[in-house]
Amino acid sequence: MKMQQRIALVTGANKGIGFEVVRDLARKGFHVFLAARNEKAGEAAAEKLRAEGVKEDYGEITFLKIDVSKPDSIRRAAEEFSKKSDRLDTLVNNAGILLDDDKDVLTITPEIFETTLRTNTLGALLVSQAFVPFLKKSDAPRIVNVSSGGGQLADGADGWAPAYCISKTALNGVTVQLVAALPKFAVNSVCPGWVRTDMGGSNATRSIAEGASGIVWLAADAPQSETGKFWRDRKVIPW
Ligand SMILES: NC(=O)c1ccc[n+]([C@@H]2O[C@H](COP(=O)([O-])OP(=O)(O)OC[C@H]3O[C@@H](n4cnc5c(N)ncnc54)[C@H](OP(=O)(O)O)[C@@H]3O)[C@@H](O)[C@H]2O)c1
Repeated sequence: MKMQQRIALVTGANKGIGFEVVRDLARKGFHVFLAARNEKAGEAAAEKLRAEGVKEDYGEITFLKIDVSKPDSIRRAAEEFSKKSDRLDTLVNNAGILLDDDKDVLTITPEIFETTLRTNTLGALLVSQAFVPFLKKSDAPRIVNVSSGGGQLADGADGWAPAYCISKTALNGVTVQLVAALPKFAVNSVCPGWVRTDMGGSNATRSIAEGASGIVWLAADAPQSETGKFWRDRKVIPW
C-alpha cells in the first residue's frame, strides 16, 4: 500500500533558512507549500525548486502568498490552501525579521517593537490558528516555531537586539500555549544557530543547510511524542 504523501507549509520561504527547509522537505517527498509575502520572489523560489526537483524527484512544491503580519493575508491564504488540500501535516513558522540589532532596550521605538512582535510572535500564532483545522486532519500533526537562542531567559540577556529577542521569548510562550491547547500535536520551538543568511550576515558560523537541519528533523523525523520543548541540533536547550 502506498503511504499517504505528507504535506508541509513553511512561512518566509522565498530565501534563507525557510527556502532550504522547503528544499529538504521536498527531498523527503513532502508536498510543500512555500509561503512568502512577496508573490514574485515566492513564485521564483518555488519555480527554482521545481526545476531542481525534476532531476532529483522532489515532492510537489506550491507557492502560497502569506504576509504573516497581516491577519487578512493569513485568512486569504487559508482559503487558498483549502482549495488545494484539506489536510496539513507540518507547519513551520519560519518567517521573521530583525530590525534592532543596533538598538538598545532604553531607546527602542514603539514602532520597531510592535512591528517585530507582530511578525515574529503574533504572526506565528495567527498562522497556527488559521491552519489548525487542516492540521487536525493529520494523523501526526506538527508545528515548528523557528525561535532563537536570543530569546532564552535561562542565562539572562546580553542587550543585543532587544525587540527581536523579546519577540522570540514570547514566541516560545506561544509554543507552550499551543501545546496546552493541542495535546495531540507535536509543537516545538527550535533555534537554528547563527546562520549565514541575509539576517545572520556573512560572519555567522553555520551554513544555511546546517541551520535548516534541526528544523527539518522536527518537521519530519523527530518522534511525534516530543512536544513542548526548545531544541538546537536535535538536543533540548533551556527556555
Ligand atoms: N540567521 C540566523 O542566524 C538566525 C538565528 C536564529 C534564528 N533565526 C530565525 O530563522 C528564521 C529565518 O531567518 P533567516 O536567517 O532565513 O532570515 P532571512 O534570510 O532574512 O529570511 C527571512 C524570511 O522571512 C520572511 N518574512 C519577513 N517578514 C515576513 C512577513 N511579514 N510575512 C512573511 N514572510 C516574512 C522574509 O521575506 P522577504 O524576503 O519578503 O523579506 C524572508 O523570506 C527567522 O525566524 C529568524 O528569526 C535566524
